[in-house]
Amino acid sequence: MVGNSTHPNTSAEDSSPYGNGPSTAGRHGLDAATKTVGRMRIHHLQKAKDNGQRFAMLTAYEQYSAEIFDQAGIEVLLVGDSASNNVFGNETSLPVTVDELLPLCRAVARSAQRALVVADLPFGSYEVSAQQAVATGIRFLKEGLAHAVKIEGGRFYAETIRAMVQAGIPVIAHIGFTPQSEHVLGGFRVQGRGNDAQRLIEDALALEEAGAFCVLMEMVPAETAAAVDAAVSVPTIGIGAGNATTGQVLVWSDMAGLRGGKMAKFVKQYADVRTILSNAAKTYGAEVRSGQFPGPEHAF
Ligand code: KIV
Repeated sequence: MVGNSTHPNTSAEDSSPYGNGPSTAGRHGLDAATKTVGRMRIHHLQKAKDNGQRFAMLTAYEQYSAEIFDQAGIEVLLVGDSASNNVFGNETSLPVTVDELLPLCRAVARSAQRALVVADLPFGSYEVSAQQAVATGIRFLKEGLAHAVKIEGGRFYAETIRAMVQAGIPVIAHIGFTPQSEHVLGGFRVQGRGNDAQRLIEDALALEEAGAFCVLMEMVPAETAAAVDAAVSVPTIGIGAGNATTGQVLVWSDMAGLRGGKMAKFVKQYADVRTILSNAAKTYGAEVRSGQFPGPEHAF
């Protein structure tokens, strides 16, 4: 959440990095009556960094989660390629395609009144050339209605990012552990330990210079992430990267406990949605089998 404890638009104007003015209409400053809804933009995230404030990002893959997180004040929604293993049932993020992610992105963008919607470019959709990256980025902004995209990789992608930004595509650069490269990296391994920290700092600086509006770091020691954040002027986002980044991101199905199984060390679970849904389904099934549902109040 941007600000220390409350959403900026629920507090005094001078504490807001968004410049939308104060609002008494609740979270996001949404005012349903007057439809004065301000869209989060990349300069608001920059302002958060400049003002020493923080913001939250969550993944979202469909309408209701997007709507709920947007209304809860989450500043940035990521249509992550983690949809591969959280929506499509794959084991890794590698198999998901542009054509699979585009409709999810469109649903999220249509459902979020206020959040900045960022689309992940999936594996194979940007690595071949800057032209390929520009073409895929355009599809996500045009067909997916995203406001920005994210790509994985270090300084090697500087020229790609430069071309994308010149084409009008805002880009988040994802460094550290990059899941699309898990086979090169040898699995889920922390990046940027010890002397390797300098590599991440140089990557971040090159990507910032190329025009990335934000640097996201995954599974990086807190000390390294803090050094990267201090080195760049743009905001940073962390996942398993300690507490010094401008923003934090979690996969929503981990954060809300929808997914079962072992969680990564960096995940904090804020709810147990899996148990809630499971209990609802069990009760429904039992009531159908016993004839308790539908009752007379549900019949015409
Ligand atoms: O796809 C995703 O969910 C991500 C986050 C883990 C940053 O890239």
